[in-house]
Parts: sequence; C-alpha cells; structure tokens
Amino acid sequence: MKKVRKAVIPVAGLGTRFLPATKSMPKEMLPVVDRPVVQYAVDEAFEAGIEHIVFVTGRNKAVIEDYFDLHPELIGTLEQSGKTAQLQALESLLPVAGATSFIRQQSPQGLGHAVWCAREVIGDEPFALLLPDMVSFGGRGCLAEIADLYAQTGGNVIAVERCDPTETSKYGIVGCGADVGTGFEVTAMVEKPAPANAPSNYYINGRYILQPEIFSLLGNQQRGAGNEIQLTDAMVRLAQNQAFFAQPFNGCMFDCGSKEGFIQANVAFALSRDDMKEAVFDMLQEFVRTHERRVEAA
Ligand code: UTP
Repeated sequence: MKKVRKAVIPVAGLGTRFLPATKSMPKEMLPVVDRPVVQYAVDEAFEAGIEHIVFVTGRNKAVIEDYFDLHPELIGTLEQSGKTAQLQALESLLPVAGATSFIRQQSPQGLGHAVWCAREVIGDEPFALLLPDMVSFGGRGCLAEIADLYAQTGGNVIAVERCDPTETSKYGIVGCGADVGTGFEVTAMVEKPAPANAPSNYYINGRYILQPEIFSLLGNQQRGAGNEIQLTDAMVRLAQNQAFFAQPFNGCMFDCGSKEGFIQANVAFALSRDDMKEAVFDMLQEFVRTHERRVEAA
C-alpha cells in the first residue's frame, strides 16, 4: 500500500456565503481566535504525517501564499523587542522550505475542478484532501483518524459525521455497508438528497484520502449541481471500480464557510484555550443573561 505523503488544500473558491467580508479577503484567512482558518487545516495535515501540501489558489488569494512565507521584517522587530515567545510561536507555524506548492485554478469551476488542477504535483500516488473552511475540533484531528482507517483498508477513505436527519439536503450523504475496522464500507454517495431519499444521515465532512485514478475521471467529468465540476460525481464513478470506506469522526467539524459555523468555531476554540477560557466563559454567561434586556432596549 502506498503511503499518503501529499495533501491538497483548495483555497480558490469565492466564498459567496461570507460576503461582503470575502469581497477582498479570502475566507480561508478569516481568523478563528488568532489563527487564520487555513492554518488549522495545515496543522492537521502535518500532524497526520503529511510531508507536502499543494494549495490550489486563484485571484485575490496571494495573501495566503504570503502568510506561509518567512517575514524577515517582523522577525527582526520581534527579536529587537525581546518578544521571544511570540517569535517562537510564529516560527513553529511555518512549514519547512519546500514543503508547500501553490498552483492556480484560474477560474473557480467547482471543487472537482480545483482538485484536478493538482494532478501534476500529486502524480501517481494516493493523497489527502482537506477542505480548509471545515475546521476540525477535538479528537486527534480528523485526517489522522481517516489515515488510521486507510492503513487498515487501503482504497479511498472519507470522514463522516451525523447530521440532523431533516437536514440531509445540505450535505453529501453516504450509504452505510458492513463495518470495517473503526469505520464502514460506503455503499452510496448522494449529493444533497431530500430526507426521504437519503441513504443515512452520515455526511461527508471535508476530509478525504483518494487514489490518483480520481484525476482521469475529474478530467472528463461533466458539470453537475450549480453548473460546477463536482468531486462527489467523480467519486461515485470511482466507486464503480474501487472501494470506499467511511470513518465517523470522533470530534466535530465547524463549517467556517458559513457565518454560524464560524461563530461556533470561535467560541469553541476560545473556550478550549487556557489563556482565555475563563474570561470568555464569563463574558458569554453575562451576554446571555442580559440579552433579553438589550433586545428590549434596542
Ligand atoms: P466551498 O463550496 O465551501 O467554497 O468549497 P466556496 O465556493 O468558496 O464557498 P461559497 O459556497 O461560495 O460560500 C470548499 C473549498 O473548496 C475551495 C474553496 O476555496 C473552499 O476552501 N474551492 C471551491 C476551490 O478551490 N475552487 C472552487 O472552484 C470551489
């Protein structure tokens, strides 16, 4: 079984759900507490053993490439002012030289098209895919969990979580087959089914390990929902010849591409940090306690 060494992180989408903030600022750079959303996906990937990350970028996204570069002026200023803790924290976040590639999607034609753009850099090996606006919280990190199942099964592995059964039409939903290790065999993948047609309430949460045969399928994939080239459509075709397994995630994923998910993530991460949890907890309690009074006064 080939090792998963590389990960694709697509960051070329327009982020229309988060307008107007995303008009000039990539949604992947919105901060959750004090780190941009994309940093969480990068940390998760390296912690799961990934050696090289391929970012698929587009226009207005140059700030992401700059963010993962060395910043000599900032380092000099922090050194001179003796801010060694901040300096060390910054340095620990920087990928080693040569561990990242940036390629252009040119125009956002859908997630499937973004993944296809990474084909030359990935080559003929399995790879991880992380949707960076889905921020993993709790557990060991979602990619590490699916990598464990992949080590047992090979093939293709996707992370899943349960959604409210009435809300299946918001997600890509999988059908559940036999249990395998800590996960199960996938019997179907359906994009945004109505609750009555959904094969389960397990939704695909934005972490994948895929075999390179997906690229040739994406290369001739017809446009699907939203007139975009959909990854799920190509995965359905790949599943005709290759096994797919699902690993239920033991933590939870916040959809930071939506305003509600972004706020949830900020609250959850703030409450998990020793340096701020007490202050944030007290602030939230006070906020809830006085909410009705403020609404009445408004
Ligand atoms: P989303 O569908 O959540 O991103 O794609 P979006 O299209 O930017 O968001 P909305 O729906 O308009 O608000 C998941 C990830 O795939 C990337 C996005 O940048 C995001 O990180 N993506 C999506 C691309 O790189 N290219 C695309 O054509 C579409």
